[in-house]
This record gives sequence, structure tokens and C-alpha cells, in this order.
Amino acid sequence: MKYHLITGACGFVGRNLTKRLLADSNDTLVLVDDLTKGRAPNEWLSIEGSGVIEGGRVLFYHQDVRDFIKEVDDSNHRLNAIKFSDVFHFAAIVGGRSVIDGDPLKIALNLSIDAELFYWASKHKPERILYPSSSAAYPVAIQTKENNKALIETDINLKTIGLPDMTYGWSKVTGELLAKIAHSHYGLSVACIRPFSGYGEDQETDYPLPAIAARVARKEDPVEVWGTGEQGRDFVHIDDVIDVMLLALDKIKDGTAINIGSGVLTNFKEIIKAYCEIAGYNPEIKQLLDKPVGAFSRYCDTSFTESKLKWTPKISLKEGLTRVYEKALRNLN
Ligand SMILES: NC(=O)c1ccc[n+]([C@@H]2O[C@H](COP(=O)([O-])OP(=O)(O)OC[C@H]3O[C@@H](n4cnc5c(N)ncnc54)[C@H](O)[C@@H]3O)[C@@H](O)[C@H]2O)c1
Repeated sequence: MKYHLITGACGFVGRNLTKRLLADSNDTLVLVDDLTKGRAPNEWLSIEGSGVIEGGRVLFYHQDVRDFIKEVDDSNHRLNAIKFSDVFHFAAIVGGRSVIDGDPLKIALNLSIDAELFYWASKHKPERILYPSSSAAYPVAIQTKENNKALIETDINLKTIGLPDMTYGWSKVTGELLAKIAHSHYGLSVACIRPFSGYGEDQETDYPLPAIAARVARKEDPVEVWGTGEQGRDFVHIDDVIDVMLLALDKIKDGTAINIGSGVLTNFKEIIKAYCEIAGYNPEIKQLLDKPVGAFSRYCDTSFTESKLKWTPKISLKEGLTRVYEKALRNLN
């Protein structure tokens, strides 16, 4: 029987991965989340009368992951004899643009979470580790209005690193370095991924795509957009993100990081227009110029992921936006 550890399991990515592994494997999943942001498992998993989750295949620890990894290696811990197969490390302070720009020292705590996780892994020696870096790790100097390009994996060179996006980007660059060292010095198998803008039906409305869908579902007029709305991102549906994540775990051992995106830059005005077309109305767009917007242009070069993993996204932006919009409509009722 295999046991996998999913830290930050009750967040957006963790919930989607947990459901996928429950559907596609017979393994036992150990979920750890302090619920500072995540949703309690009874909101999204089936819990039986006795409190057993998904027929006993899920164990939930409502804890800071740093406490969990200290306690699990104690001989009195229920899981002490377990050697984790896969470790999916999603516990992080994320929070969106308002937190990245508004509370950067809070985000910097990710350095501590990642350092403790990798140090623990160097002793515990799980079979494989998945570390989610981010597109925020790329240098911001090549994401401006005047100077931008499809971001390719080699644009982050640890020897000549450019300034990434705030403490969030720095913590991801550092996490990637720890992943490389975990492999080279401790023999661990680690895959890093750089998802661009992941989105999906059950994402919190403090992220732009569900937030805009909710405004359009309410038929607001005007529809508000942060900044000019001309800033663009590379949107990728969470189902596609999970596909790449599992492929990366199979194929990458040495901490190499790969992009996960569509390769297409879409700005927020275009997103609003696409939702409004689905909803069948034509409102004004109101720019909120005092809101933080981050980099102007952030999209990826997909060639490395395509060649290394033979992967291209399955869910078009149109289909993904339709799904998110329909969920926003259901939430109204
Ligand atoms: N969603 C995306 O598109 C995207 C893009 C790039 C990178 N990532 C990365 O993927 C990971 C997961 O992202 P997400 O979108 O699911 O974020 P999320 O905020 O939805 O999930 C993070 C989870 O971690 C938990 N958590 C925070 N600190 C913790 C701690 N100390 N101990 C235990 N649990 C803790 C939170 O309660 C939350 O449930 C993050 O590392 C994020 O940077 C996500």
C-alpha cells in the first residue's frame, strides 16, 4: 500500500490533485493543511458518519506542515512507520496580487515552509517530490509593456538570476534551488513545475477569473477590471495542470523546472469580453487604476514541456471560461 503526502491539500491545486488521485489510484493520501486559506475536507470530500474520509483512503491533519513533519518522525506518531512515496508540496502563502504586493513579508514565510520541507525530505527520503514553483519566478524585466517575450525555461539561470516578482517570486526561485540541491546532494527525485495562471471552477473568488465570472453572472454594468485590463496572462485549466504535474513526476528526477501554460497571452479585457459573449450582454468595462496589477505581460514558451513530456493543453480557454461562468451562475442560486 502506497502513502502519498499532500501538503496544502485543502487549497485550490491540492483539492484538485486529491480528487484526481482518489479517482485514478488505490493509494492512501495523507493531507496536511492548516486551513489558513484552504477548505475543510468535509466541504469537498465524502465523510462517513464515523468521520472516516473516502472509505479510509484519506487521512487529514489540520496542522502547519512544519509541525507535522517534526511530529511524524517521532516514534509515537501513528504514521511513523510509513515511508511516503510521493510528496506533493502545495502548502504556501499565495493570496493573489493584493497579498503579493500588499504583504510581501508574509509571503516571504514561504522560504521557511520550503526550507523545512526539503530538509525533512533529505532525512525521510520519499520516493519522489513535486515542487510547485511559479511563473512569478521569471525576471520581471522581460515582462514589461516595452520588453516582453514568451518566457522560456532558460530565462531563469541560477547563475545570472534577474529580479523575480516580489518575495513570492524569490521564494519560488529559492525553492527551485533547494530542489536541485535535494537531488544533487541527497539523491532525491524532484520535479519542479512553473504553472502560469491556473484557474478552474472551484477556485476562490479572490483570483481574477472566478471573480470576473461572478461579476458577469450578476450582469453587472459596468464590469470592473483591475488596472487598465491590458495586462495579460497565460491561462491554463487546473485539469491540464494536474496532467502535467503527474507526467513531470514520472519523467523528471533532477529538480528541472518546466512551464505549464498554453503559450497564449490573453489580457483581462479579452477575458471580460469572452465571458460577456457567453452571458449574452455587452457592458462597459470600468478600469480600477488604483489596484495592483503585477507584470504587464506574462506568458510562456511551451516548447520544452511539449518536447520533454509530449503534452499540449486539452481544455481550450473558451471551454474553461464557459465552465467557470456556469459555476458562477450556479453560485448565484
Ligand atoms: N494556482 C495556480 O495557478 C498556481 C500557479 C503557480 C504556482 N502555484 C503554486 O502551487 C501551490 C498551491 O497553490 P494554490 O493555488 O493551491 O494555493 P492555495 O492558497 O489555494 O493553497 C495553499 C494551501 O496551503 C495551506 N497552507 C498555507 N500555509 C500552510 C502551512 N504552513 N502549513 C500547512 N498548510 C498551509 C493553505 O491553507 C491552503 O489551503 C503554491 O505553492 C503556489 O505558489 C499555483
